[in-house]
Amino acid sequence: MDDLHDRLKAIEQEARKAAKEAAAQSIEAIRQVESRFLGKKGALTQIVRSVGKLPPEQRAEAGRLANDAKRLLTDVFATTRRGREAQAADEERREAAAYDPTLPGPVRPRGGVHPVTAVQWEVADVFERMGFIVETGPEMESEFNNFEALNVPSWHPARDIQDTFWLTNGLLLRTQTSSVQVRAMRKYGPPLRVVVPGRCFRNETVDASHETTFHQFEGFLVDRHISLASLKAFLQLMLREVFKRDVKIRIRPGYFPFVEPGLECDMSCLICGGVGCPTCKHEGWVEMGGSGMIHPNVLKHGGIDPHEYTGFAFGMGLTRLAMMKYGIADIRLINSGDLRGLIPPERLAGPALT
Ligand code: DAH
Repeated sequence: MDDLHDRLKAIEQEARKAAKEAAAQSIEAIRQVESRFLGKKGALTQIVRSVGKLPPEQRAEAGRLANDAKRLLTDVFATTRRGREAQAADEERREAAAYDPTLPGPVRPRGGVHPVTAVQWEVADVFERMGFIVETGPEMESEFNNFEALNVPSWHPARDIQDTFWLTNGLLLRTQTSSVQVRAMRKYGPPLRVVVPGRCFRNETVDASHETTFHQFEGFLVDRHISLASLKAFLQLMLREVFKRDVKIRIRPGYFPFVEPGLECDMSCLICGGVGCPTCKHEGWVEMGGSGMIHPNVLKHGGIDPHEYTGFAFGMGLTRLAMMKYGIADIRLINSGDLRGLIPPERLAGPALT
């Protein structure tokens, strides 16, 4: 009998310990422990059952001990369960009290426009304020508008510089926004001031500084008495407006078949302030684009008399401008989608999509 007593004591202790541990987890865990002791195959149930096999004179005493233990454990588990239930209810009440439906929801970071788009909008805005029309043209363009009208006939070596995506329908993907020059001249007639932001395409091998798709910003002005001085003044003004300070520009001769004279236009590198860095290839200057006085042949294609009118044109890459504006030192970030490098903190205050 002593032996039975000890066994029951041991089971009781084990059950109390297991119940306590399960209480820290869940009600379900408590139930599992309970069935381990009191279920059909439970440790205690088996002892109760074995009482029947004892000699008759021991049965009453053993039965009493076993039933006492069973009652005790049933009680232990019920109390443990109730405690856990109360605790869960309490937690729920506290959570409900902490929830304030009048508080604003979590603030999601708002998307921002890409730096190239942002700078494009800004430059277009500056030119619009100076009386320019913002014109777009088709990305799928005719050979005439993209080349021929711009004084680049089919035999011209300049075609080789602009590796072209030729389409099977006889058209091409425009290699430059200059393709809109003659379209606009024919559409509006002189005098005219037009800017053309847009995507261009070239069949380039992609590397760290070449992409098959890129963004250009074209501008041209046709009127009487237009000279290179006007061109320089407009570019200078645009840069001052976009960068909110005077930016030095450098003009040097350059060849483009659709301008005469033709110029290359550089701006002082704003990443290093002009002293030289990897972004400007240690020159202190970055190329903005090409420009010049519109070639008489182009004006003629546009239906404009070159004896009466002159005009200037320029075309620049928007990527470099965006890099200068937002301090993006590496061109690869522009198309990478890595927002950490792409969106400097001050740009988050810029135009945002809502
Ligand atoms: N379209 C030229 C290019 O893609 C850039 C350019 C040069 C545009 C001179 C012009 C210009 O309007 O006058 O390389």
